[in-house]
Amino acid sequence: MATGTAITYGPWGVVAGGSDGVGAAFAHELASRGLNVVLVARRVPVLTAFAEEIRAKHGVEVRTLALDLSAPGALAELADATADLEVGLFVYNAGGDDFSTPFLDKDLATHLALVHRNCDSVLEAAYRFGGPMVARGRGGVVLVTSGAAWAGGATLATYGATKAFDLILAEALWAEWRSSGVDVLGLVLGKTDTPSMRRVFDAKGEPYGETADPADVAREAIDHLADGPTWIFGSPAPTGGSPFGALPRRDAVLAMSRGFSVSRADDPAGPTGT
Ligand SMILES: NC(=O)c1ccc[n+]([C@@H]2O[C@H](COP(=O)([O-])OP(=O)(O)OC[C@H]3O[C@@H](n4cnc5c(N)ncnc54)[C@H](OP(=O)(O)O)[C@@H]3O)[C@@H](O)[C@H]2O)c1
Repeated sequence: MATGTAITYGPWGVVAGGSDGVGAAFAHELASRGLNVVLVARRVPVLTAFAEEIRAKHGVEVRTLALDLSAPGALAELADATADLEVGLFVYNAGGDDFSTPFLDKDLATHLALVHRNCDSVLEAAYRFGGPMVARGRGGVVLVTSGAAWAGGATLATYGATKAFDLILAEALWAEWRSSGVDVLGLVLGKTDTPSMRRVFDAKGEPYGETADPADVAREAIDHLADGPTWIFGSPAPTGGSPFGALPRRDAVLAMSRGFSVSRADDPAGPTGT
C-alpha cells in the first residue's frame, strides 16, 4: 500500500550497501512504507537471501545488483541497471572501515579504495540520481556519515576525512535543492550494532559497549528526511552542531584520538572507525 513516504519518495528507493547492518534496516524501512527497493552490495549470496526476505516480509518489488562501490564505473553500472525505474529516494549507506589502524599500517590501495567508495561514488550517486529528482521536483537523498566527521582522529584519518566530505556534500546539496522539492539529509551516526562494527571490535578484542539499533536509526532518518541538512542520531539536539562545540581544534582532535565518548548519543564515532 502506498504510504505518504512512498508517494513523496517512491516508487523506487536505492540502498547502496543494502544487504546488512544499517543498509538492511533502511531496506526494511523503505519497503515497510511501500517503496520498491534496489539493493546494492558485493556478496551475492547475502544480497540474494536478503532480497528474498524483503519480498516475503513486505510484498514489494526488489531488484539486486552486485557491485563494488570502490570500483570506478560502479555508479554508471547502477544508473544503467535502474534506467527503467523512477528512483525517488537514494540512500548511500556503504561506508564503514573495517580497519581502524594507523595511517601507514594500511597499504595505499586500501586508502584509495575507501576514498573512492566514500567520496567519488557518493558524489556520482548524488549527481546521477539527484539530477532526475530535481528535474521531477521531488525526491530524497540520504548520505550516511559519522561522528568521525567532526574532527580528525588517530587511526581514523582516511575514514574521518571521507565522512567529512559526505557531511559537507549533503549540507551543500540540501542548500541547493531545498527549493526544488528534493530533501537531502546528512545522517550522522555514532556506534551502531552492525556486522561491520562487530568485526572492528572483535578484531581488537574490545567490548561493544552501548550501541544504537540500526532499525531505530533507519526509522528516525526516514521520519526526519525533510528536517535536513543534518540529523545526528541519538543526540539530544539532532539538528544541532558538533558535540565538540567551541573546543579548540587541537583539543577536539586529541579527544577524537582518545576515542572520545560522553554517551552513545554524543559519541562522535566511538573508537572504532565504523
Ligand atoms: N556501525 C557503526 O557503528 C557506524 C558508526 C558511524 C557511522 N557508520 C556509518 O554507517 C554506514 C553503515 O555502516 P555499517 O556498520 O552498516 O557497515 P558498512 O560496512 O558501511 O555497510 C554494510 C553494507 O554495505 C555493503 N558494502 C560495504 N562495502 C561495499 C562496497 N565496496 N561495495 C558495495 N557494497 C558494499 C555491505 O555488503 P557487502 O559486504 O556484501 O558488500 C553491506 O550491505 C556507513 O556509512 C558507516 O560509515 C556506522
